Amino acid sequence: MQQVSLALVGAGARGSRYTTCATEGGRARLAAVAEPDPRRRAGMLAEHPGALGFEDWRELAARPRVADAVIIATMDADHVEPAVRFAELGYHILLEKPMAVRLEDCRRIIEAAQKSGVVFAVCHVMRYTPYTRAVKAVLDSGRIGEIVSGACP
Ligand SMILES: NC(=O)c1ccc[n+]([C@@H]2O[C@H](COP(=O)([O-])OP(=O)(O)OC[C@H]3O[C@@H](n4cnc5c(N)ncnc54)[C@H](O)[C@@H]3O)[C@@H](O)[C@H]2O)c1
Repeated sequence: MQQVSLALVGAGARGSRYTTCATEGGRARLAAVAEPDPRRRAGMLAEHPGALGFEDWRELAARPRVADAVIIATMDADHVEPAVRFAELGYHILLEKPMAVRLEDCRRIIEAAQKSGVVFAVCHVMRYTPYTRAVKAVLDSGRIGEIVSGACP
């Protein structure tokens, strides 16, 4: 199995969760984390020995590329600058939704990703898609019995 190396920008609720999902089966390893909160950063580094730690995504972006891909999970207004910069650096990108809070910033991100040719994905909420509605309708119908527990990655 080929292992993907990841950089994490923003080790908060979402970033930590995605990192765990990606690394727990060995499909990916964490190469670097950029997180200003010292406890969150230290926690991530303790879980992923050998990963590089940075206080700010700009410090990570000041280096030549250290990973195949980056997870960007900062707060909404802080998506556009790292997304554009990491695309320019050649990182494949998983960007937490919303892409940005202004349409022109979404366009800047798309342009940067297309120009550099990286794989670019946004973590969209899927709960209102036809697929999810169909699954819910089946569950609500009782067709598979009573639901007693559920898990969300
Ligand atoms: N929490 C959820 O359930 C949820 C669900 C869907 C989408 N989202 C989206 O995910 C994104 C993150 O949400 P969250 O709940 O994980 O927030 P969070 O506050 O837990 O995490 C954001 C992290 O980014 C870090 N950060 C701030 N500036 C930084 C910088 N310069 N460099 C690197 N890291 C920096 C913060 O210190 C923080 O740890 C937001 O865009 C949010 O809308 C969150």
